[in-house]
Amino acid sequence: MNKWIKMSMGMLLAASLLSGCGQDKANNGTDANGGNTGTAAKKTLTLGTSADFPPYEFHKVIDGKDTIVGFDIDIAKDIASDMGAELVIKDLPFDSLLNELSSGRVDMVISGLSPTPERAKAVDLSDIYYKAEQAVVVREADKDKFNTMDTLKGAKIGIQTGSIQEDIAKGIEGAKLTSLAKISDIVLQLQSNRVDASIMEGPVAKSFVKNVKGLAITDAKPEVEDDGYVIGVKKGNSELLTQINKTLGDLNSAGKIEEYVTKATELAESK
Ligand code: ARG
Repeated sequence: MNKWIKMSMGMLLAASLLSGCGQDKANNGTDANGGNTGTAAKKTLTLGTSADFPPYEFHKVIDGKDTIVGFDIDIAKDIASDMGAELVIKDLPFDSLLNELSSGRVDMVISGLSPTPERAKAVDLSDIYYKAEQAVVVREADKDKFNTMDTLKGAKIGIQTGSIQEDIAKGIEGAKLTSLAKISDIVLQLQSNRVDASIMEGPVAKSFVKNVKGLAITDAKPEVEDDGYVIGVKKGNSELLTQINKTLGDLNSAGKIEEYVTKATELAESK
């Protein structure tokens, strides 16, 4: 085949893939909740999330079925239902999420996403829907050894690729960083002595410490400027952003978000 024909076929393919995305597309995503993902005419809302983050978003076997749950997921379901859309969940590596948004492969990102100036340049961000502090997780025996941020100087630190924790860790003098796609892999590295410490959101740290033997949260307090979580949409998608902020406002005033956090925390800790 002549290379120009090949090239234009490639472009056609790319264009058809792109045009297949958006809010009215035929549904062909992975619905981890086992919903009806047939080709029904109902419009879909595709969520991009990194489901390694209890109690925000995580996998849980429910009625014998692997399901993605968490308080971010509950919020996503409410946004979809307020829009009369069917929610489709895509579980993706955290550091790919904003690209997926910009390329239109997902409609919104809810993934414990912290607002940063760089992210605000790349995508549009919602109002803050929840706040939490950062925590340092170590092996239980090292709990007192790493009790301030200063004690982490020169330590081996595991963090999630593309997260704000990666930036926090980069600011620690002499620290040797291991960046991994999944928090669960960082926990394995901690257990097997390959890293000494990890920095993660407080609620996530608590959930892992509760479920994994031999880990502890230290008294060290990582400082961050942006301690809230936001939802991301593609730059310029003001219609969806307005809808999201509306749902968040309603959930907040009804005290629903706190309720979802409590429920998800219990679910993450239950066997
Ligand atoms: N809040 C941090 C950030 O935005 C970490 C979020 C990680 N989220 C996840 N689902 N793994 O960078």
